[in-house]
Amino acid sequence: MIKILFVCLGNICRSPMAEFIFKEIVHNAHLEDKFMIESAGTDAEIGRCVYELAQQELDKHYIVCHGKVGRQLERKDYIQYDYILAMEEKNVQDIESICGVDSEHKVARLLDFSNKPRNIADPWYTRNFSITYDDIEEGCYAFLNYLKEQHVF
Ligand code: 4NP
Repeated sequence: MIKILFVCLGNICRSPMAEFIFKEIVHNAHLEDKFMIESAGTDAEIGRCVYELAQQELDKHYIVCHGKVGRQLERKDYIQYDYILAMEEKNVQDIESICGVDSEHKVARLLDFSNKPRNIADPWYTRNFSITYDDIEEGCYAFLNYLKEQHVF
C-alpha cells in the first residue's frame, strides 16, 4: 500500500483537487487497492467543504469530491505517509516547519515529477481554476508514471 498525502495551504482548493484527480486516474488504471490517497493543509480551513469554484472545475471533468472537508497537516502525518506532495515551494517550507526536516525525502512538489518542474499557483488568488486543473492533472500523470518505475504494480 503506497500512502500519498497532497498538501496545499488551505486544503479547500488545490490539494483536494489533486486528491480527487489522482483517485480518478488510479481508479481508471484499476490500481485503487495499491493506494491510500488523502489531502491536508499547512494552515487548513478546518471542516470547510471544497471551495465552490474548485468543485465546479472538478464537476466539468465528472469528478466528485463529496464529503471532503479541510483538515490540518500534523507532525504524525510524516510517519504515516510515503509521499507528501506539495503544490508550491512555500508549502514545502511549511511542511518542514510542521513535520521537521525531511530526512526520508518524502516531500516534493507535485510538478517536480513533470518535465517542467514548477509551482502550482494558488487559484484562491489567480481565480483561474482551469489552469490549476491542468497543472494538477499533468502532475498526477507524471507522478503515477514515476511510481510505476519505482514500484512493481
Ligand atoms: P488552497 O487555496 O491552498 O489551494 O486550498 C487557498 C484557500 C483558502 C485560502 C488561501 C488559499 N484562504 O486564505 O482562505
